[in-house]
Amino acid sequence: MGAVVLTNPLIGHKLSLLRDKNTGTKEFREIIGEIATFLCYEALSDAALEDVEIETPICKTRVKRLNEDRYAFVPILRAGTGMLDGLLKAVPNAKIGHVGLYRDENTHEPVRYYYKMPENIADREVLVLDPMLATGGSACDTIDMLKEDGVKKIKFLCIIAAPEGIKKLEKVHPDVQIFAAAVDEKLNQNAYIVPGLGDAGDRIFGT
Ligand code: PRP
Ligand code: URA
Repeated sequence: MGAVVLTNPLIGHKLSLLRDKNTGTKEFREIIGEIATFLCYEALSDAALEDVEIETPICKTRVKRLNEDRYAFVPILRAGTGMLDGLLKAVPNAKIGHVGLYRDENTHEPVRYYYKMPENIADREVLVLDPMLATGGSACDTIDMLKEDGVKKIKFLCIIAAPEGIKKLEKVHPDVQIFAAAVDEKLNQNAYIVPGLGDAGDRIFGT
């Protein structure tokens, strides 16, 4: 399917601030939210709109509207929650699910600790949110759980992706489209993205 990577120079500018280790928690969090809004616009560029009749101050007319209720946003805890407000700015009535995972420090494999979805999740289009797609383990595990729940339409939105993560996610879940603001060079020996932005969760929450 091929990952969609944002090319707007303003996104490049915002990323340069995120990558800078001297950028503080408040600004970091704000920029994650801003980029997330842009990712949401891109991910919904194929959205099906519904015909609705309304009345303008001048006359009756037919307009196209998004059925926001069809969508569920699923941030991967913790860092994914940093993207949530940015998406809700674009689609305020989307439902929200949560997946709790952390990477084991030694194996880098995801460890599950929480899973809670809105009702009728199988009938919704799900956008999974996580700023970092590193090895791809957390993304694949989350999507495994959603598919076990019957979800058929899933997209994955991240700020920075590593080539290794894209390769794994495309291999394991070829039906899931990836949207990223940047694709970096590689992973280091600790499975951190290079050059990356460090630990996204720690920088969003100031831990
Ligand atoms: C980070 C990040 C992803 C995961 C990516 O979370 O937010 O969830 O690592 O790595 P992967 O692609 O190799 O699985 P972390 O486990 O550090 O948890 P946190 O969000 O609670 O900080
Ligand atoms: N998780 C992060 O927060 N950063 C990385 O570079 C890799 C995984």
